[in-house]
Amino acid sequence: MEVVIVPDAAAGGELIAGAIAGLLARKPEALLGVATGSTPLPVYRALAARVASGAVDASRARICQLDEYVGLPAGHPESYHAVLLRQVLEPLGIDESSFMGPDGSAEDVAAACRAYDAALTAAGGVDLQLLGIGTDGHIGFNEPCSSLASRTRIKTLTEQTRLDNARFFGDDIEQVPHHVITQGIGTILDARHLVLLATGEGKAEAVAQTVEGPLAAVVPASALQLHPHATVVVDEAAASKL
Ligand code: GLP
Repeated sequence: MEVVIVPDAAAGGELIAGAIAGLLARKPEALLGVATGSTPLPVYRALAARVASGAVDASRARICQLDEYVGLPAGHPESYHAVLLRQVLEPLGIDESSFMGPDGSAEDVAAACRAYDAALTAAGGVDLQLLGIGTDGHIGFNEPCSSLASRTRIKTLTEQTRLDNARFFGDDIEQVPHHVITQGIGTILDARHLVLLATGEGKAEAVAQTVEGPLAAVVPASALQLHPHATVVVDEAAASKL
């Protein structure tokens, strides 16, 4: 695992945008796994600036989701599908037809999970998966004690994660869904390159456990230790307990 300490979130965004730009130069139709949350926003901003200036052509890139809420009505602005359309596809000029994600409104959620896992493989696998990290060390929505070999499946959110995400639902935890579909840890590990970005002091403990702690299901992000090409980009605050 390579750990890169950068001065701040903007520098992390530039660094990772540069890695994605390099990938797209080598492979214009690369499959990019993207994450939600506030942490990846500097990456998307830096990449959008490169697209706007003509330095990067992302028009042939393919995008896939890491996770999704279950049961939000179609078109809900906080569904991760809608969020990623706004934050990634539109600014990068990528057509929605190049966007893959699990169907959070499917009647048969288990079948939707299996179908998404199979679709990722059929698409040739994820070239670069961008990850954030929860304060409890979760990746995607794989909460602590998720199996390190898990595949895409339905999960129940912890109270802490629902509290953390209530800010996207008018600070009303009652509006935050209880269930989600998430790529499993095993699914995430199938990506060719994992890039985890963590910023701010609130992530320092989770980062320390991920990088220096034992490989353990109680810290899902520690599974990155198993991956042959994992890069952890942290600002100085998130690196403060390393
Ligand atoms: C959610 C997402 C994760 C993300 C995490 C942290 O749980 N499912 O993919 O990493 O939030 O969010 P933030 O970056 O806003 O701290």
